[in-house]
Amino acid sequence: MKVVLGESGITLDIVKDDLSCVDTIEQTLGAAGREETDDAFYVVELADILLKHKKWVSLLPRVEPFYAMKCNNDPVILKMLTGLGIGFDCASKTEMQTMLGLGVLPSKIVYANPCKQASHIRFAAEHGISLMTFDNEMELHKIKKIYPTARLLLRIRTDDSKSLCQLGIKYGAPLKQCRHLLQVSHDLKLNVIGVSFHVGSGCYDARAFGTAVSAARRVFDLATQMGFKFTILDIGGGFPGTPDAAITFEEVCAILNPLLEEQFPASSGVHIIAEPGRFYSASAFTLAVNIVACRTVKGSQIIEDDKSLEVAGLEDSCELGFMYYVNDGVYGSFNCLVFDHATVHPEVLGVKDKDAVKFPCSVWGPTCDSLDCITKSVMLPKIGVGEWLYFRNMGAYTCSAASTFNGFKKPLKFYTISQSCWPMLSKILKRFGLHVIIPCHEPLNHKAPVFSALPDFLEIMSVAP
Ligand SMILES: Cc1ncc(COP(=O)(O)O)c(C=O)c1O
Repeated sequence: MKVVLGESGITLDIVKDDLSCVDTIEQTLGAAGREETDDAFYVVELADILLKHKKWVSLLPRVEPFYAMKCNNDPVILKMLTGLGIGFDCASKTEMQTMLGLGVLPSKIVYANPCKQASHIRFAAEHGISLMTFDNEMELHKIKKIYPTARLLLRIRTDDSKSLCQLGIKYGAPLKQCRHLLQVSHDLKLNVIGVSFHVGSGCYDARAFGTAVSAARRVFDLATQMGFKFTILDIGGGFPGTPDAAITFEEVCAILNPLLEEQFPASSGVHIIAEPGRFYSASAFTLAVNIVACRTVKGSQIIEDDKSLEVAGLEDSCELGFMYYVNDGVYGSFNCLVFDHATVHPEVLGVKDKDAVKFPCSVWGPTCDSLDCITKSVMLPKIGVGEWLYFRNMGAYTCSAASTFNGFKKPLKFYTISQSCWPMLSKILKRFGLHVIIPCHEPLNHKAPVFSALPDFLEIMSVAP
């Protein structure tokens, strides 16, 4: 069954529980909605996000998540997470405006940007978003002037050497500066109420969380000595979001739970929050791209072009190689290759013969820039122009930072929810008064400019036959 999300024309497919995302891609190929039938598109499995939340609540029950919306600010996801009652990590005025516009309470927002624009702090002050991070002295003076009653979290630098995206070179006060920063806060009569940290995004050593919690404990102790009463610990982001991540969420929880209980027991009254981004959204998105062109080359050329390729055993099939050109690239969804240090794995849609001969191939984005390369070398079968590749786990730091350089549009999104999760989603939306279901047999308006602004598409929903 299809559900239309209000006047926006966004449709939500309620699918059988055992329908794979590959099945959904195949069904979507012919679906209406895209301007052209060969346009790239996303399949967004909303059930994946609901189940992630369930996992968070059951494995890390003491930690309240504040979703880092920078990771993926898709309006349906934001609305759904709002409905689940979780908080949000916002980094700018626009992000705060967006969440307030969705009805999120100011108390459910942490303004987690240690170096803030003055007018954005003013916005936070005007709207009662009082919880914010800082990591340097100038910021304290700025906050004193603009929002002296803000509730501040001292962001400390932690060891992020085991993370793909290291944030410590830009943010976080070294531990030895904390006494001075707390002294300045004290002199300015500012309200510092806790500590935050970020182990780095794409963390691949769960022990980093443990080291960071212990460092935070030392800053709590220092603050107590100096007369502060700290009540919030913010353990940041960095939680894995895909099944192929180097660490599992379970491993992180196995380190965090006992340590939090030991160093910040429930009896201490410390409220523990986190800012997960990729944990929630990474695995819910699968991107399908169309092969718009193909160049036949010598396989050895591809191997030569990629000095990092593991060439062992490839020589036999190296006579022939292919350069595939697809319709989303590094300037679009695959900006994650540059900004998120991601690695992506193309899979071929509709491969019947698993043993088909494979050739050295490279995969390129659509823009006229040679930097727009998705994979320099990968073994793939021969694929025709017009056929499809797909990439799983494309929900983190992809569409939120994509551009339309060279006029290539961002892929449209097709949302699905599994039958067993639909009642949950429907209930969440109803509970928050976000929609009314109206049976509708009118033809759907698929040409609506759905992503131009945050639509209030959940106000009215209509069910298509
Ligand atoms: C301050 C802050 N919080 C949270 C996050 C989310 O991190 P992740 O997606 O690794 O959970 C980021 C990502 O850069 C961040 O900068």
